Amino acid sequence: MGLLQQVLGIALPVIQAPMAGVQGSALALAVSNAGGLGSLPCAMLAPDALRAELATLRAQTTRPYNVNFFCHSSPPPDAAREAAWRQSLAPYYAELGIDPAGIAAGPGRLPFDAATAELLAEFKPPVVSFHFGLPDAALLARVRSWGAKVISSATTVEEARWLEARGVDVIVAQGLEAGGHRGIFLSDDLSTQMGTFALLPQIVRAVRVPVVAAGGIADAAGVRAALALGAAGVQVGTAYLLCPEATTSALHRAALASEAARHTALTNLYTGRPARGIMTRLMREQGPLSTVAPAFPLATAAVTPLRAKAEAAGCGDFSPLWSGQNASGCRPVPAAQLTRELAGG
Ligand SMILES: Cc1cc2nc3c(=O)[nH]c(=O)nc-3n(C[C@H](O)[C@H](O)[C@H](O)COP(=O)(O)O)c2cc1C
Repeated sequence: MGLLQQVLGIALPVIQAPMAGVQGSALALAVSNAGGLGSLPCAMLAPDALRAELATLRAQTTRPYNVNFFCHSSPPPDAAREAAWRQSLAPYYAELGIDPAGIAAGPGRLPFDAATAELLAEFKPPVVSFHFGLPDAALLARVRSWGAKVISSATTVEEARWLEARGVDVIVAQGLEAGGHRGIFLSDDLSTQMGTFALLPQIVRAVRVPVVAAGGIADAAGVRAALALGAAGVQVGTAYLLCPEATTSALHRAALASEAARHTALTNLYTGRPARGIMTRLMREQGPLSTVAPAFPLATAAVTPLRAKAEAAGCGDFSPLWSGQNASGCRPVPAAQLTRELAGG
C-alpha cells in the first residue's frame, strides 16, 4: 500500500478535488465509497447547509472523506475600487437592463473561522483541506485535536516548504493547468506559477511529506505519469465535472463537452483571485486579468446579477465556467467508475 493510502486510510491514490459551486456530498460519497478520497467543498456553505452535508457524509460512508475550506484574509471594503469596477461593467448592466443601484456589495465566500471549527468538532471529519494557505495556529490545532489529517495546496516550492514547516500531512502540488482558483498564497506574482510536471518533482525533492499532483490529470496514463515523477497520488477536479453526482449546471456541462473547453485562462473577474476557467465573453472583452477587479472575494457581487440574467436566457457570457486545461477526461460516467479508472482498475 502506498504512502498516501496509509496516511489517509484510503484504498486508491485518488483524491476527488473539492469544487465549490459544482458539487456537494453526493460526489464526495461516491468517490469515498469507491475507495478514493471524496471531498466536500465548504467555502460557500452557510452553517446550516454545512451541518446538513456533514450529517449526510457521516451517515452514508464509513470511509475517510475530506472537507475543504478557504483561508484567505477578508479584505476591507474599498468604495473607490468597487465604484471603478461597476463603472467598467456599466455597459453590460445597460445591455441586460440591470439597475446597478440595486446590487448589494458583500463577500460571497467566508474564510475558515473559530465557529466553523467548533461545528466541525461535532462531526470530527477525518481529513480537512485548505486552499490559500492555512488558518492560524490555534485554529489548526483545533482541527488536529480530533485527529484530522490536514492537506493544503502549494503552487511553488516555497509554499510547499512553508506548509511542511507548519505540519501538514499531505501537500497538493497544484500546477498551472489546474481548474478553479490558484492556491497561491505567499505571493501574488503569477509569473512564479509552473505547470504540474515542472512543479511536482521539485516539490517532491523539497519536502518529506507525501505530495499529491493536481492539474491537467484526466486519465489513468496521467496518474501513472504523476506517480512516476514521485507523486504519492493525484487530486483530480475537472474530469469529475460531468459525473451525474456533480451539480455542474447544464450550461457549464455543455461548455466542458464542447471545443470551447480547449481555451481556458486564469481570470480574476469573477471573484478577485486568479482562477482557471473556459474563456467567456466577459473575459475576452475585459481581459481575463483585471487591475480594476476588487480583492477576493469582493469582485463577485457586481458580476452576479449579470450572470443570473444571462443564465436565465441560457447564455454563459458572464458565468465562471471553471475548468482545467485538460477537459478531455470529462465524461458523464458515475464517479465511482471514474475513480476506479483513474486508479487503473
Ligand atoms: C470547478 C472547480 C472548482 C474548484 N473549487 C475548489 C475549491 O473549492 N477548493 C479547492 O481547494 N480547490 C478547488 N478547485 C481546484 C482543485 O482543488 C484542483 O486544484 C484542480 O481541480 C486540479 O486540476 P484539474 O481541474 O485539472 O483536475 C476547483 C477546481 C475546479 C475545476
